[in-house]
Amino acid sequence: MANLKQGEFVGSLDCGTTSTRFLVFDKYANIVAEHQLEYPQYYPEPSWHEQDPDELMASCDACIAEASKALEAAGWAKESIKVIGITNQRESAVAWSRKTGKPLCRLIVWDDSRTKNTVAHFEHKLQTVGIEVAPGEFKKEEEGVQALRKLSGLPISTYFSAIKLRWMITHHENVRKAHEEDDLMFGTVESWIVYRLAGGTQSNLHITDVTNASRTLLMNLSTLEWDPVLLKFFEIKDSVLPKIVSSSEVYGELAYGPLKGVKIAGLAGDQQAALVGNKCLKQGEAKCTYGTGAFLLFCTGEEIVSSGHGLLSTVAYRDGNNKPVYALEGSISVAGSAIKWLRDSMNLVQSAPEVNTLAESVPNTGGVYFVTAFSGLLAPYWDPGAAGLLIGLSAYTTPAHICLATIEANAFQTRAILESMKLDSNADLKHLMVDGGMTNGDKVMSVLADLGGFTVIRPEMRESTALGSALLAGSAVRLHGWDISKPETLSEVNTKGSLEFTPSMAEPEREKRWQGWKRAVERSKGWEE
Ligand code: G3P
Repeated sequence: MANLKQGEFVGSLDCGTTSTRFLVFDKYANIVAEHQLEYPQYYPEPSWHEQDPDELMASCDACIAEASKALEAAGWAKESIKVIGITNQRESAVAWSRKTGKPLCRLIVWDDSRTKNTVAHFEHKLQTVGIEVAPGEFKKEEEGVQALRKLSGLPISTYFSAIKLRWMITHHENVRKAHEEDDLMFGTVESWIVYRLAGGTQSNLHITDVTNASRTLLMNLSTLEWDPVLLKFFEIKDSVLPKIVSSSEVYGELAYGPLKGVKIAGLAGDQQAALVGNKCLKQGEAKCTYGTGAFLLFCTGEEIVSSGHGLLSTVAYRDGNNKPVYALEGSISVAGSAIKWLRDSMNLVQSAPEVNTLAESVPNTGGVYFVTAFSGLLAPYWDPGAAGLLIGLSAYTTPAHICLATIEANAFQTRAILESMKLDSNADLKHLMVDGGMTNGDKVMSVLADLGGFTVIRPEMRESTALGSALLAGSAVRLHGWDISKPETLSEVNTKGSLEFTPSMAEPEREKRWQGWKRAVERSKGWEE
């Protein structure tokens, strides 16, 4: 194409749970071009959630191709993209063959809770046999639970990748065989995408970044290596595992497509990327992203804070060979997906914004609480058997009350996590940075501030996840002088305004509603038939 301008941009491939996006950022975090595609989701049985790794890959390829075209249509040469970062839905487990480079089964998505029996098996093992922390030295019962948490930062849950991988090995004959014969390659989504983008069997680039690895139950949070004690406990061979790399360094380059030859230099799980994108790089800074689920990360700096109140310790990011930065995390499995459910499954509204409009039309929920435990409850409750529960219904209840109760569920779960963070860190949160699709609704924001009792800050440019991965990639090659370890080098990035939502609900009312929520949660727990 004639007369295309040359720029210096970063591309960011965001492989989220329901859609893939490729965004191109300039030095100030303006979006120069983008493309987004939804890809198929499979729910073959209640509580199962799968995706086809090839379909996911095809959506990545198409987004890169379409965004590159959009960039040219905007007058820029595609060579303006100097480097790309990749960010992804975390914990989802992919299994493929070393020989063929082909997936061995559909990938199991993070919010799939089919693995309850696998969890029960390993919990039982921890209670009875224990975990062998040193040759011949087993820790069991509460000591075992603590030992596992200390090593991995995590509890045993359907959420984490090792449990999903174990399920695949047990239930898919071809995965079991590949595991036995050292033909199995396992990875989280970024691992699969990098493997394919870099040329599949041609390059055999099998890596995972430290933030994604910290969600598997297999990585030692202090050494940042796969831990033999954990591998032995979960009966997983180390031959299946990718190499753990930092979140910001040059890993390889694109082997094909319009951006062939462009370096891949940033990798991070999407929630950690959003923390970086919000520039919450230092101890005490926190963000919550409201996407399919909601994820609150509180940066704890170079210190690993172990939670006594149901939160996870996780890696926030690692810049090359520098010391890692850690975070406490509280994950909510259902946030935006509840809005989608109101629209697509219940046909209560035509569009997501209508949930806000309807919720605004009523002064309160009329006594309705909605515990959106569609696949159990994650932090801080950790109850895979909790059931979705609408309670307080009467002849007075209208769709508007249910819409408001859905928005409130989101706020109550956020508050529950923040209460735990307060107890763990002894620090009161002054404000919460937010992003994600669900934060577009002002009603969602004001309910959050009211029921949470804290100030909510919503930046104008809220593509924090994609931006975070762009910053990690740009920083690796010092594009625009960015250096993730020196936040001052990012001072020109995303300086657009932000909107603050402050609480206006009186404390007695807030407290009354909070107690109501807690009673509803108790009723939802342990329901599983
Ligand atoms: O832990 C799961 C999380 O990474 C998924 O995020 O934005 O794809 O729903 P999202």
